[in-house]
Formats: sequence, C-alpha cells, structure tokens
Amino acid sequence: MSKKFVDVPEHIAIVMDGNGRWANARGLTRVEGHRAGEAALMDVIEGAIKAGVKYLTVFAFSTENWKRSPDEVKFLMNYNREVLRRRRDQLNGWNVKIRWAGRRPKLWPTVIDELLTAEKLTSKNTGLTFTMCVNYGSRIEILDAVNQIVEDSNSGKLKGKVTEKTIQKYLLTKNLPDVDLFIRSSGEQRISNFLLWQSAYAEFVFLDVLWPDFNREHLWGAIEQYSKRNRRFGGAVDKPKKAKRSG
Ligand code: FPP
Repeated sequence: MSKKFVDVPEHIAIVMDGNGRWANARGLTRVEGHRAGEAALMDVIEGAIKAGVKYLTVFAFSTENWKRSPDEVKFLMNYNREVLRRRRDQLNGWNVKIRWAGRRPKLWPTVIDELLTAEKLTSKNTGLTFTMCVNYGSRIEILDAVNQIVEDSNSGKLKGKVTEKTIQKYLLTKNLPDVDLFIRSSGEQRISNFLLWQSAYAEFVFLDVLWPDFNREHLWGAIEQYSKRNRRFGGAVDKPKKAKRSG
C-alpha cells in the first residue's frame, strides 16, 4: 500500500546518526549500534518507496570517519560490504537503483568492488535511486571538482565560463537533483559536511530519535513536516493582511 502526502520531496538525504549512543545506553559496543542500524535503513528505504520518493541518499561513511578507532573503521568497512552483499538482491527485487557517491583514495578496494557490483546489478531499475555515500565529504568533493575544472580548462577540454551547472556536473552526485528534505537523526543539529552544495535550498528536519530506533513512521513524519513548509528559494510574495478598520 502506498502512503499519500500533500507534497512528496523528490530527493531526501539522511544522516543516520546515533548508533554509538544507542549501543552505549544499552551497555553494548558501538559496532552493535551500527548492526542495529541496518534494519532501520531497510525500513526507511521501504517507507521511501511507499511514499513515492525518487531519490534517497544516506551518509554511510564520511571522509572524516577514518579518525575513529581502527577497530570501528575496520568494522564499518566490512559491514558496508556485507550489507551490500546481503541486501542487493532484495533491493533489486524492490526495483531500487543502487548508486555510490564517494572518493576512491583510502577506501578499501573490496568495498569499491561491492558498490560497483551493486550499481551494475541494479542499473536498469526504474524505482527509487538509493545512493550510499561511502568515503564522502562535501568540502573535498567541491575541492576535487574545482581542481578537475581547472585541469580541464587548461587542457582545453572545458571551454567557456564556469557556471553552477559546470560545478554540478563535476560533483560526485552529478546525476542527482538538489536535496529537498535533509533529515538527521539523534537530536544533533549539524550538517557535518554532507551534501553542502546540493542542500542549498533543502528543508531541514532534525529528529530526536537515535538511528537504530528510526523507522518509516519517522520518515513519514518528516515528510509531513516538509509538506507544511513554504519553500521560497529566495523569492517572496507580497500578501498584506487586510487591516481591520475601526469605526
Ligand atoms: C553514525 O552514528 C553512523 C555511522 C557513522 C555509520 C552509519 C552506518 C549504519 C547506519 C549501519 C548500517 C548501514 C550501512 C549502509 C552499512 P555514530 O556512530 O556517529 O553514533 P554516535 O553519534 O551516537 O556516536
């Protein structure tokens, strides 16, 4: 059964935050929290499909996450690979197109292989585009784009003035539209270097729910909030209220 909304965001981005706190509050290790985050993610993907969302993009591993303990980094690398391997057929069955956005340097080659295999398997699908940001950071993404633009301009491959469209084409997310709704779980109210360029006009919803407790109902609640927002993209409409006349 599909879920109806007044206004469905075309592109939702999610920072799946709070796995560590969820685990520690239960006397478990941080990696147990990440394990519990998988079910939340699958439920949210299904919820997004039912709501008619076209693009869902999640922050699975940031370029800053290498600073975590070697054990946690190792776990997250293995886990990203394992989740993809375990879930790709199910996602394929849901007509989901899996995409990867991230940088190659440092990222484990076996994780890249798994991401590319999932991309290839689901490339013909026409349903939800689900982008996993693995080894992704927005500032370095923009910096990489600028350097490539300079290189291509110098070599003559790129001609004319650089426009917003040019930059967009050089980003890791070049095939994605701008973010309409940006959600972060766990009560933290930060962007944390996620999709900075792409979220210029996004609506933000911060939910006080740790990621492993997150489910489709929370996603739908955020879409409900989004439906009530008045997006102006910098424009404005003059609507003076009728002044009350006395006497
Ligand atoms: C943030 O919580 C979460 C991550 C850095 C990893 C996200 C991974 C998952 C949700 C696991 C399942 C999904 C995939 C795609 C493999 P945190 O560790 O920053 O939590 P904290 O803020 O409470 O410490």
